[in-house]
Amino acid sequence: MSLLGTAVLISCGNLCWKTLVKIIKKNATNQYSMANNRTIGIDLGTTRSAVAHVTDGEPKIIENSEGESVTPSVVHLTEDGESIVGEGAVNNMMMKPNRTIREIKKLMGTNETVFLGDEEYNPQEVSALTLQKLVSDTEDRLGGDVTNAVITVPAYFTDRQRSATREAGEIIGLEVDRLLPEPSAAVLAYGHREQQLGEVANEVIFVYDLGGGTFDATLVEAEYEHNYIETIATDGDDQLGGSDWTEALVQYAYDVIYEATDVDISQNDEYIEQRGRIFTAAQEAKHALSEQKSVDLTVPFVVPDQGYNLDEEITQAEFEEMTKDLLEDTKIPISDIFERTDHTVEDIDKVLLIGGSTRMPQVETLVEEYFGMEPSKKISPDHAVALGASIQAAILDDDVTDTGITSEEGDGPSGIVLIDVLPQTIGIKVQPGDKFDPIVERDSQLPVTNRSEGYSVQHADQTSVAIEVYQGQDEYAPNNEKLGDAFLNEIPAREPGQGQLAIEFTVNSDGTLEVYGEDLLSGKEVTAEIDSALDSNSRDKTQLPPNA
Ligand SMILES: Nc1ncnc2c1ncn2[C@@H]1O[C@H](COP(=O)(O)OP(=O)(O)OP(=O)(O)O)[C@@H](O)[C@H]1O
Ligand SMILES: [Mg+2]
Repeated sequence: MSLLGTAVLISCGNLCWKTLVKIIKKNATNQYSMANNRTIGIDLGTTRSAVAHVTDGEPKIIENSEGESVTPSVVHLTEDGESIVGEGAVNNMMMKPNRTIREIKKLMGTNETVFLGDEEYNPQEVSALTLQKLVSDTEDRLGGDVTNAVITVPAYFTDRQRSATREAGEIIGLEVDRLLPEPSAAVLAYGHREQQLGEVANEVIFVYDLGGGTFDATLVEAEYEHNYIETIATDGDDQLGGSDWTEALVQYAYDVIYEATDVDISQNDEYIEQRGRIFTAAQEAKHALSEQKSVDLTVPFVVPDQGYNLDEEITQAEFEEMTKDLLEDTKIPISDIFERTDHTVEDIDKVLLIGGSTRMPQVETLVEEYFGMEPSKKISPDHAVALGASIQAAILDDDVTDTGITSEEGDGPSGIVLIDVLPQTIGIKVQPGDKFDPIVERDSQLPVTNRSEGYSVQHADQTSVAIEVYQGQDEYAPNNEKLGDAFLNEIPAREPGQGQLAIEFTVNSDGTLEVYGEDLLSGKEVTAEIDSALDSNSRDKTQLPPNA
């Protein structure tokens, strides 16, 4: 492929030397750290997080300091500048909403910032505070230091979202051995259980993962007898989750209140505390509707000066009706997968439900209708992801003999081999027309390396060429997510148009991009870097507010 004259060429002197987040030399290998200290699995969720560790060959959930198996991903900053994470922060959500942040995962990979009191934080830092609580509680439970972790991410997360997640771990000094897609983690946990039960048949598994903030649909082939789990395709929506179902009830409450009182609580700052109470009531009502046919949505004194109490009965059928479009939206990624792979719905042996939102009965009905079978209930939708992450952590850990998770077929101590895929295509912007030119296609099995040739300089004194890198499925590059600018640097002098340069994209096992460059004129490697579009001027651990 020749892109000469079509690629974006930028003369790039000293201006290029911004903060470079990735500097990778050709032939560098993935270095999975082989620490002797504890390695844990972390499910860093939109609404709730969980930790697991493999002890005596068994993955086990590690309870937090409150004795709970899951920790709300909610962060509060006290007036004294200390952080409170989890249930304690939830308690502050209503009274001190300006000092409390929830669902930060929805902003991961963006350059948006949030305020905790007067202090501004980026999403990585807020997630780091959650991780800090999870890690320190785990250290208290297990004794000793936790140095390494496998952290899960939605399968559909882009490079930017994954890199932000890795950075959250690094901020607190955690070595992130791997970022693992949540559905893959769940399949690992499920597969481990099946193996223990002596089930070794191969299966084609569909994972329907509806969490608090994200939806993933993933098609997996599991060959338990060979300890081999292979993802075929993944698709999803990183802005669709249980909180949208809650939001539908919140909106309904606002409408009812407006009808009765003429007050629009959704807009007015005066009602910030009431909004918090409505959210909590809506969430509780939603959960109740998974168990019972109707529920009373009650919020006392929601418009205090009119003495108005919200008290509305909502039936399961009404709730399903007001959220049916959301449920319908989950079918889109599923259908896309069947359209672009060789598999049909009939090939599916098992459907796994992951994520708290799959407790809604309408999800089960959808799965039964779509797949013609009842979903498997063998694993806990709340714990499977963390358990699977801990299994992956044990596999990557040097000390696997302690874990009991080993394999006869697998490569040395690596045990189960898990192959993931790239969720969204990575490519570059080309001219004319700002078109998106794919370099690594989605559903490529990882790790993968692809090359693109045909770059050159525009001016003889040019020492660097910049290439804009995007991720997504749109033919028009700017409609995709910009990952950053890849620079081919320290280019030996040449005439414009002369001497081709090649760029190589490697997407490693956890779905993050590395770039290499080569000068085809001299055959030599040129340095290649990505100047990430993700701002990463994060505070480090010592600058974060300490745990209260
Ligand atoms: N019984 C229930 N009925 C309906 N929804 C529920 C129930 N229990 C939990 N949920 C919902 O599940 C969601 C949380 O699920 P989960 O903990 O799997 O998500 P998460 O890990 O926080 O998010 P994500 O995986 O998207 O990052 C919340 O929206 C919560 O309201
Ligand atoms: Mg989750």
